[in-house]
Amino acid sequence: MIIAVDGPTASGKGTIARALAAHFALPHLDTGLLYRAVGRQVFLDGGDPDDGGDALAGCAFPDSRLQDPHLRDESTGGLASRVSIHAGVRQALFDRQRAFAVQQGGAVLDGRDIGTVIAPEAEAKLFVTASVQTRAHRRFLEMRERGVQITLLEIEDDLRRRDERDRNRAVAPLIPAPDAMVIDTSALERDEAIKAAIRAVEDALGTTGDG
Ligand code: DC
Repeated sequence: MIIAVDGPTASGKGTIARALAAHFALPHLDTGLLYRAVGRQVFLDGGDPDDGGDALAGCAFPDSRLQDPHLRDESTGGLASRVSIHAGVRQALFDRQRAFAVQQGGAVLDGRDIGTVIAPEAEAKLFVTASVQTRAHRRFLEMRERGVQITLLEIEDDLRRRDERDRNRAVAPLIPAPDAMVIDTSALERDEAIKAAIRAVEDALGTTGDG
């Protein structure tokens, strides 16, 4: 069984994907990390993330890059969003994601284009979203906990810019698959969002849980 979880930055899709993986005992891949690793690699190489050639060169990042603590930085998220518009980058990361998706026993993947491009045959597709204000507030609390100096307004501006880029790019834009179930987490607590996601997956599979 493949579960595809797509949605914008800080919508709660990562939390939901990890919880679904634990609930259904499936391996999980955060595909955003791959794009973040490319963005970080381009930065370290002194390249230009808006240049297709430099961005493609960044796809040859060493596996150790996936452990780089800077991958979680806001600035790396911005670089990831910029390198991800290049068709060559998306193609270079495709096989790795596809292989993870079709492994025996199934998998949970979260990202932007899992239900539309990476695994359109997924048995369950969720599109997790939330208002930009809610997402900015969540990211702000997260950053504050990590001791990062950034204002709520800066985060909100950054999210709007990234949303705009992710939604309007020519290749694999962020849009719900036609058969995706949309979960808006704006008014939901973490546990409520997870429950709603589990229920949505069970509905898609035609099974019923214990509630
Ligand atoms: O989910 P995230 O914030 O870690 O993703 C960072 C960027 O990577 C996001 O702005 C767009 C890009 N991305 C993508 O284009 N496709 C994916 N499947 C995952 C992420």
